[in-house]
Amino acid sequence: MASSHLESLSQLAADPVVIAPSMLLLDFGHLADEIAQVEQAGARILHLDVMDGHFVDNLTYGLPLVAAFRRYSTLPIDAHLMISNPEQYVEQYVQAGATSVTIHREATDNPRGVLEQIKRAGGNAGIAVNPPTGIEQIDECLDLCDLVLVMSVTPGFGGQNFEPVALEKLAALKKKLGNDVILEVDGGVNLDTIAQCAQAGANWFVAGSAIFKTDSYTQSIARLTEAAAGQ
Ligand code: DX5
Ligand code: ZN
Repeated sequence: MASSHLESLSQLAADPVVIAPSMLLLDFGHLADEIAQVEQAGARILHLDVMDGHFVDNLTYGLPLVAAFRRYSTLPIDAHLMISNPEQYVEQYVQAGATSVTIHREATDNPRGVLEQIKRAGGNAGIAVNPPTGIEQIDECLDLCDLVLVMSVTPGFGGQNFEPVALEKLAALKKKLGNDVILEVDGGVNLDTIAQCAQAGANWFVAGSAIFKTDSYTQSIARLTEAAAGQ
């Protein structure tokens, strides 16, 4: 099973529109059912928001739950690590079943070293920048990135408002990287904001409230996909 989620990631990397449900606002009392529902609704990747209560003012879940998501799903797992000292943990997230592991630029003085750790462990490597962080802060390590995550909210919680500064960063990164690196946007992505993100150059779109705070996961994912594709 390990290879299938890695193979499907390479197919997804070039896809112009991939909706990545943020697995934070779901009913954790029915995890397997929720995952099945999201898969049946058309999700092609699971975005796991790992928060340590230190790098961000919220504590969500860690390795045991990533392993549980891996057990219950064959979809690629996009682990978004909002944690301090990522160098201590990234290999364990790959071993737990994460397909891609994204660290925060703000969480390390040695982004290259941590990205290399992820790749050596067999994962796809990503780096995230918060709204105040300029993309020049990641210039030094873009050659190691399979994915760049542009935060359009301050990380820590779902349901926040979209910060348009993300659009300038997406456009600048798209110009610099072309289609060689997955450009992901995360935070406040919904039917009102997703088209601008796609036009700016994003191809992976994290959505939490825009999916889990609606009546139909299927309808929400379909509408978000259409809006991103400009239909
Ligand atoms: C915030 C997380 C996001 C968030 C997305 O720290 O990284 O993935 O849960 O939720 P919405 O789409 O509701 O902003
Ligand atoms: Zn996230």
